[in-house]
This record gives sequence, structure tokens and C-alpha cells, in this order.
Amino acid sequence: MSGKDGKEAKEATETTEADIAVHWAEEQYFYPSTKFIAQANMTDENIYDRMSLDKCPEYWKEYADLLTWYKYWDTILDTSDAPCYNFFKGGLINASYNCVDRHLAKYKNKTAIHFVPELETDKVEHITYQELYVRVNEFAAVLKYECGLMAGDRVTLHMPMVAELPITMLACARLGIIHSQAFCGFSGKACADRIVDSGSYYLITMDAYFRGGSLIDHKEKADIAVEEAAQEGRKIEKVLVWQRYPGKYSSKTPMVDGRDVFVNDLLKKYYGVRIEPVPMPAEAPLFLMYTSGTAGKPKGCQHNTAGYLAYTAGTSKYVQDIHPEDVYWCMAHIGWITGHSYIVYGPLAIAASTVIYEGIPTYPDAGRCWKIAQDLDVNIFHTTPTAIRALRKVGPDEPKKYNYHFKHMTTVGEPIEPEVWKWYYHEVGKDEAIIVDTWWQTETGGFLCSTLPALQPMKPGSAGPGMPGIHPIVYDEHGNVVPSGSGKAGNICIQNPWPGMFHTIWGDRDRFVRQYFEKYCKNPKSKDWRDWPYLTGDAAVVASDGYVRILGRIDDVINVSGHRLGTKDIESAALTVLEVAEAAVVPVKHEVKGIEPDLYVALRPGIQPSEDLARKIMKAIVTEIGPIAKPGKVWIVPDMPKTRSGKIMRRVLGAISNGTSVGDVMTLANPEIVDMITKMVQGETKVEF
Ligand code: WTA
Repeated sequence: MSGKDGKEAKEATETTEADIAVHWAEEQYFYPSTKFIAQANMTDENIYDRMSLDKCPEYWKEYADLLTWYKYWDTILDTSDAPCYNFFKGGLINASYNCVDRHLAKYKNKTAIHFVPELETDKVEHITYQELYVRVNEFAAVLKYECGLMAGDRVTLHMPMVAELPITMLACARLGIIHSQAFCGFSGKACADRIVDSGSYYLITMDAYFRGGSLIDHKEKADIAVEEAAQEGRKIEKVLVWQRYPGKYSSKTPMVDGRDVFVNDLLKKYYGVRIEPVPMPAEAPLFLMYTSGTAGKPKGCQHNTAGYLAYTAGTSKYVQDIHPEDVYWCMAHIGWITGHSYIVYGPLAIAASTVIYEGIPTYPDAGRCWKIAQDLDVNIFHTTPTAIRALRKVGPDEPKKYNYHFKHMTTVGEPIEPEVWKWYYHEVGKDEAIIVDTWWQTETGGFLCSTLPALQPMKPGSAGPGMPGIHPIVYDEHGNVVPSGSGKAGNICIQNPWPGMFHTIWGDRDRFVRQYFEKYCKNPKSKDWRDWPYLTGDAAVVASDGYVRILGRIDDVINVSGHRLGTKDIESAALTVLEVAEAAVVPVKHEVKGIEPDLYVALRPGIQPSEDLARKIMKAIVTEIGPIAKPGKVWIVPDMPKTRSGKIMRRVLGAISNGTSVGDVMTLANPEIVDMITKMVQGETKVEF
């Protein structure tokens, strides 16, 4: 939407996360302990001076130098196709080599991955760097010799949280194959959309995985994905199926002859085979990560090899404070960007021991996380506010029952309420661990705002200042700078390029420019990065100390339990049900999930509302997207509140669902409906089906 009228129309019709955000009071600082500071990786206060805006982009050399290059780069930042930037142009590098091979000399006997199965009766696997090297090579041999895959090919992964997932990613990276992992909770249909958009001929999956104590049949989703992709014109040649228990098939879904193959059978031919990593140009795409964005289908954020790896390695070292002797556990799913950057690539690039936990944090009981932390002697812990809220709700006194000690904890993905932050600090961190609240996005590859843990105090509810070398700025709707300390919110942007940022949207450069740069671009023809501030899509307030507090999205994206979803995607899923005429999704505050979607639907003429129909709509959403997108409530309403020009007033529906004031609705085409819906939602009118 562009132009003044467009903006006004948006303001009149939408409700966003930022609109329903709570402004909590400014909190006191918490300081890192001398013990933490004494061992921290980054204690040099000059880093902010070295990385000041006027020295951009030269300072990114510090990050590039954390990596091992086949050929060192010659241009630090190529802006010739701005705003599609290339970092470290001229360099040759391999991500798999950097995450595995280069650590062998010093760390081959050290654990690279601790895999913790959900069932406590299954054995924890400790994979050393040497074993990771062997397994990555063998699977790379399968990709090369059995599948004939080569650098630049795309492969879709739909895998659960198992060690085979990073092995698969690193085997792809070894050959320059671009992987595109779909979150395993996504439906077969959602996986198909990613197959089609990326142009993959291969799907790599696993037969089953554990969740909440049940062995979930996952292979059935592969069949749906292949079928749906075929309908959209993309034929999958082969489905490679890892077995959750090697040598045993744990799915009820039959293997399709000629199409489906067990990885474990193929691997037998390649035991002991080594595959040389392919030296890739710095700017070669490493992976695609699909994410929801303003209207339309999910978009594939293209992350390129060297910049992404340098940025995730640097931030893992300086913000996560990972040393090779630490045990680091990030509880995100590898199917989301947090897992890619801060379970796999960043930590492994700096020789960490990284924990992969298969299941849910509360299985079989509220103490599970703390038991894992105790058993593996985890000392760095990384999770979301949703998980923290849930753990606090079900087991507020559990952490103290276990003998673990964190030095460092992260919160990521959503704003964290100061009260929840303090429980995390006092109870989970036992007043010993520092906390970093890291704000960033799929698009940004790594952190944008956070405190550097040994250099700055923490402030509950605030992410902290821009990372070294990242220069945030807040603009109002008209492009005026909203000053720090003004108490006013605005659209937070980043003024300069950084190596972790995505290069483009796969196959859609125009959308990339339109969505992220058009709004505040100073000159669309410019090749100077100073003319292209990056629009994050979040609203923020910056305090006078420069600490950034994120309020939430300003667009139609919502973060449900820290999972990023498009309201338009949920609406389109609801509209696949023939009886539904109109659908509107609004974000609603939720005690544990942070935000939850409520769905309002109006039916086609002559169709009667019923509970069955509401269930059918829920089911359609699960089929199209996955259970994570399930609305909290489906409200079947006689009509939507609309403007005179026929636009659905989501803002009004959002206010009703959140129990806040609907404001002046007299200019609506049908103001009487607002009262009817309010009574329905507030339970004053029995919903008659
Ligand atoms: C939100 C996840 C507040 C924000 C890494 C952003 C946060 C979106 C924080 C990106 C945080 C992420 N505090 N909000 N610390 N971190 N967000 O792409 O709205 O899944 O735009 O990346 O999550 O979600 P995504």
C-alpha cells in the first residue's frame, strides 16, 4: 500500500500486534557479575567506536576473520545491485568446512551435538566433531552420487528436531546445495508450497518423531506434500526418508516404490567415503527460510553463505558468549531461523557443543528442561518468552530442585513482560545468569538489538541497544526521525547493511524491495546503502539510554508462541471452506502464547452456523498450515463490521477480542453489528448454532 490514502485506509481497517501491545513502566538495570565479565568473550568497550556508522562497512572485516577462507575476499560490500547486497565479494568459502572440518585438529573428540530424545528411556546421543564429520561426509556422498545433486540445486527438508537435521543441512552446504527446511509442524500442504516456490526435486524427511510422548507419523505429510506439489506443477523425483530408529520403519504410511528411499539403506554404500567441500563464492545462497509476510504466499528469505556465517559466528561468540568448553542449549526448533542461526550454523562455526532436544519442554513433567540441563551440565540456555511463561505456569518451583548452573540465558522471539523476565532471572537463572533479550528476524540472519552481556546492564522488557555495527533508527509514518527518549513509538529501521541480512526474496526481487525498503527509500536509483534504510516491520520505543523496546509487528504478521504467522495465510485457509464468505484474523493477547489469533467468519447466504462448521474451519487451517495456526476462537458472525467502501474493520474486531474500546464506529456501513458481535464475544448472547 503506498501513498497517504493507502496509509489511512490501512490505519482504519487493520489491527496489529503493535496496536495491542502493553506499555510497561521503565525498569531498573540489572548488572552482570564480575565472574561473568572475567570469562566473557567480548569485554572491549571500544567495539562500539570501532563499529560506528561512519566506519561502515569496513568494520565487518572483524566478523569475516572469524571464518576460514579458501580464497580471501577483495570487496567488503558490493552495493552495485542495491539493496541486494553482497558481502565479502571475491572470497571462496564453504560453510560445512567451517562448521566441521576446521575444528577436527583441536576438537575432534569433543561433543559437537548432544541429541536428547523426548523419551527418557531412549539414550542421549553425544556426537563428537569427528563423528559429525564422518556422518556429514557420508550423507553428502548420498546427495552427490545417489541423487546427482549439485551446487545451486534446491532441496526441501521437512525434518523434526533430530541430529540428522543438522547433518543433512551441513551435507547440503558441503556441496553448495541450497537447503530449505520447512518447520516439521507445518502441514504437507505448507511443505508443498515451499517445494514449489523453491523448485526442489528432492524432499528429505523422517518417518516419525516424538512429541508429547507420542510417536507422530511424519511420513504421511511427505505423501501429501508430493501430491500437492504435483498439482501445482512440481514433480518430486525422490523422497529421502531418514528413520527415527535406524533400520526400522516407524510410520504406517507405505513407502512409494521408485520414489521413496530409506536414507539408512543408501548410506550403507558410502560408509567411510569422504566428500571434499566445494569452495563456494561468498555470495552463493546457503539456504532459504520461508516466512510469512504482508499478504500473499510465504516468501523465501535467501541467505548467502559467507555473510550469514560470519554474522552468526560473531554473534554466537560475542552475544551468546559461547566458548568451546561450554554446553549450549537453544530450545528453538531448527525449522525456524533461530535454530538455523543459533543451534546449527553460529555455534558450530565456533566449535560449540550444541544441544538438540526432540520434544516439548514439559514432557513428561515440568522439570524436564532442568533435568536435561543438570544431566548435560548445560551452562548457556536460550528460549522464548512463551516457553518461559509456560514453564513458570506449570512448575514455578521446579528449577531449584535441579543442580544446574547457567552463566547465560537468552530470550528471543517476542516481547517479554518484566515480571516473566524476573522469574527467568531469579528462578531459572538462580540470580547467577545474565540475560540477553535478542531482537531480530528471519530476514536479518542474526541479532539486531541486544546488550553485549559483559559490557552493558540488562533492563527487563527491553532488548537493549543496536548490536555493534547495527544502527537502528525509528521513523514516524512520514519519515521523520522519532528521537530516543521521546516516549513515542515508531517504525524501527536499520540504517546500514550487515553481513547476516538476507540477500533477496527467492525469485521475487521486486517484493523484496517493495516490502523492506520502499517506504523510507531516499532515492530508488541509488547504489549507496545510505539511501536504503531497512524496514523491519516492528514498532519500537527507544529510551534515552538507547535501549530499544519492541512493541510488535505493524503489519499483518503475528507471533504466536514466538512462531511467525501471516493473518492473511490463516484467512485464506479459512476461505478454502466453501461455506465461508469472509474471514478476518485478529491478534489477541494470551497469557502463555503472548499472542493468539482469533478468527471471525461470515457465511455465504443461506448457510446456517454450527459447531460442526466451526470445527471444519479449524481443520482446514490445520491442513493448509498446521496446528500452530489454529485460532483460539472461531466466531461465526452474521456480518463483518465494514467501512462504507466495504473493507472489513479488523481494528474493531481486534478491540472486541481484546476487550478494549472499539472507538467511534458510527461511520461504519453497519455500526449495529459491532454491538451484536461484542455481546457474542463477551458471552452475553448465547451463540446459537
Ligand atoms: C518478534 C525470530 C520482541 C518481532 C528471531 C520480529 C521480538 C519477529 C524479539 C521476527 C524480541 C523477535 N522482542 N519481539 N526479543 N525477537 N521478535 O522472523 O516482531 O520468526 O519482527 O524471527 O519476532 O520473527 P521471526
